Amino acid sequence: MIRYAMHMRRAPRFLAAALLLLSTAADGMELRGHGGPVRAIAVAPEGTAAITGSFDARAIVWSLETGEARRVLLFHGDEVNAVAVLPDGRFATAGADSRVAIWEPGRDAPARVLQGHTALVTALAVSPDGSTLASASWDTTVRLWPLAGGDARVLDGHEGNVNAVTFLSDGTPVSAGYDAKLIFWPHDAGAAPVRVTLPTPLNTLAALPGDRLALGGADGTVRLLDRDGTILSEARVARAPVVALAASPDGKHLATADIRSAIVLLNTSDLAPVHELNSPPVWSLTFTPDGETLLTGGADRVVRQWNVETGESIGTVAAGETDPLAEFAGDPGAEAFRACVACHTLDPEDGNRAGPTLHGIFGRRIASVPGYRYSQALRDMDIVWTPETVSELFEVGPSIYTPGTKMPEQTISNDQTRAALIRFLQRETGG
Ligand code: HEC
Repeated sequence: MIRYAMHMRRAPRFLAAALLLLSTAADGMELRGHGGPVRAIAVAPEGTAAITGSFDARAIVWSLETGEARRVLLFHGDEVNAVAVLPDGRFATAGADSRVAIWEPGRDAPARVLQGHTALVTALAVSPDGSTLASASWDTTVRLWPLAGGDARVLDGHEGNVNAVTFLSDGTPVSAGYDAKLIFWPHDAGAAPVRVTLPTPLNTLAALPGDRLALGGADGTVRLLDRDGTILSEARVARAPVVALAASPDGKHLATADIRSAIVLLNTSDLAPVHELNSPPVWSLTFTPDGETLLTGGADRVVRQWNVETGESIGTVAAGETDPLAEFAGDPGAEAFRACVACHTLDPEDGNRAGPTLHGIFGRRIASVPGYRYSQALRDMDIVWTPETVSELFEVGPSIYTPGTKMPEQTISNDQTRAALIRFLQRETGG
């Protein structure tokens, strides 16, 4: 905050950018950057970073403190369905390409690629001791990957798509599938798994303190079970299948989303709804570690944050007379830049985010900001950025104009909006 405030005083030319950052990247604002629905989301234990996976085949690592996108992770050939936060600043992503990738800080390619699944991977979970990553797949198996290296243990026992996996506090993996089975897998590979049959296909699963499990079913019902598989309570929360479910770390709240996209916050104690969120359709949900905020990944590509106590969207409540963007109500170029601000700065002193600084973009050769790690695809191209080429980039979209780029797909089809964005960039990038 202080950083941005200083810019405002120093250089009026950057006022527009500074105010945009204030309004877009402040605490609890919307996170915009994905080029497709946000299919998966996880928050780091400290609550300062989040990772999202999208139908746009990318994962994005976000700072929840500033709203900046820190890294765009491009590896999967298809949609990223599952993400996980690993110990030591690492992340895991998995996708429709049936691969699991492990990412380390400061590297743009996966440190390890875990291969073995033969169909879409739907879910990832990390064991409580941080030693094992579990992946669930539509190939009907769950795989347990030792994070220190070595072969996976294959858990074979479902009779259909496995949709969800989690761990109990003692490290017991539990999975749920379209075969309506919940399976508790023994530590000892020789022992028999414990199978519980539910009345409906299972889409999603979350572990709660006290080794309780919350299950979201195709019948729109949430069920709470103990570690023996006994149903403790159940409640019909939706008229459509539950597609996403999350439990707050303290176990007090559950959040569910159904296929028609009603998002409901429930009290775990009696499964009574506390809030129905006024949100566009979502694909993914997670709580922050303090349990005070719910993050949702939207079908509209936006990640939103919600106050669990009030059920209100964080970021829109501040709008009104004091909204710093009010001054730009007449500047469609600044509005269009909202789609870029999470990843790109305009002031040289702000450096690079997930994307290179756009300071001095006009007249600059493609992929030439020193110290920024561009994709090989961009480095191999021969373009000079001008108002015309940047305009063309977003007229046809990065995936066509710069094939292989890390930048998520987005197009600005309206000629006037594109022209306004270019004028805004000409004014604000010091060129
Ligand atoms: C989710 C992050 C993200 C968003 C949102 C985003 N970009 Fe990018 N952008 C990137 C990344 C990453 C690169 C580098 C791509 C590579 O190396 O393949 C990039 C590259 C670029 C480049 C080429 C820069 C160079 O030095 O060659 C331009 C121009 C650009 N982006 C403009 C924009 C504009 C304008 C918007 C908004 C309409 C936007 N970007 C939105 C991440 C993003």
